[in-house]
Amino acid sequence: MTVEQKKKSHVSNTFKLWSVGIVFFLTFFHLYAVYAYPGVPIVSDKVLLATVLGLVVYLWIQELRDRERLQAINLALIKAQRQLERAEIDTIATLVLTEEAKDPYTRGHSKRVTRCAVETAEELGLAADECRMIERAGILHDIGKIGISDNILHKSGKLNEEDWIAIKKHPRRGVEILEPLKFLSRENEIICHHHERFDGKGYPDGIKGEGIPLGARILAVTDTFDAMNSKRPYREPLTEDIIISELKNNSGSQFDPVVVGAFLKLLRKKPSLWEQD
Ligand SMILES: [Fe+2]
Repeated sequence: MTVEQKKKSHVSNTFKLWSVGIVFFLTFFHLYAVYAYPGVPIVSDKVLLATVLGLVVYLWIQELRDRERLQAINLALIKAQRQLERAEIDTIATLVLTEEAKDPYTRGHSKRVTRCAVETAEELGLAADECRMIERAGILHDIGKIGISDNILHKSGKLNEEDWIAIKKHPRRGVEILEPLKFLSRENEIICHHHERFDGKGYPDGIKGEGIPLGARILAVTDTFDAMNSKRPYREPLTEDIIISELKNNSGSQFDPVVVGAFLKLLRKKPSLWEQD
């Protein structure tokens, strides 16, 4: 039954008021008749009882139908809100992907990082809702780089100290960009901390261990994995052996060992994750 059809089955408040009025009127009329004309059957008890019960049951049934109608409207509203949120995320994600596409060395980075992160989250047994949150955070994790100069982002040589200061601002900048979208508050937490290290030596806040949101600990692994597995202006992609040993060597210091364990297991199960599309 559609929302529109349910609207038609709705009993108006006016009708309900009239029904309650009739019940009260009949009750008072009956009480008055019993008092003023004792022994004269103006409205019999049975007729009064049947009328009142009939109206009460009818109103109760209509109330249930109204409740159903409201639930349907509520669901439709939630669906519309989700579609609107999805459209907003897609619009922002397009910005990130367009920015990445300008540089052949970063093209597709966020999509690959996201794919690996979601699969790792599933491997860790996270709920579908948390996996979706990690998916949104993954696609938007580097949105703060939009404010960084291309000279720094596409620099072929080594980054100097000033460049690093600018680069390290991107997690917070991402949070500032997404702040107006209140429905992304949990994703913003992940985006803010995707460069924290498990040992507390990361940025921007230097938080450590399980104090770092799990989504951010997952992104830290898949982000670094994709960086090592991608070509750079100054080097070819690292070999699979080197990447695996880097992940293992930094497990417990840079990365959450539980996440590294799940990700390495995943890489063995799904060799397609090595592909750069
Ligand atoms: Fe980043």
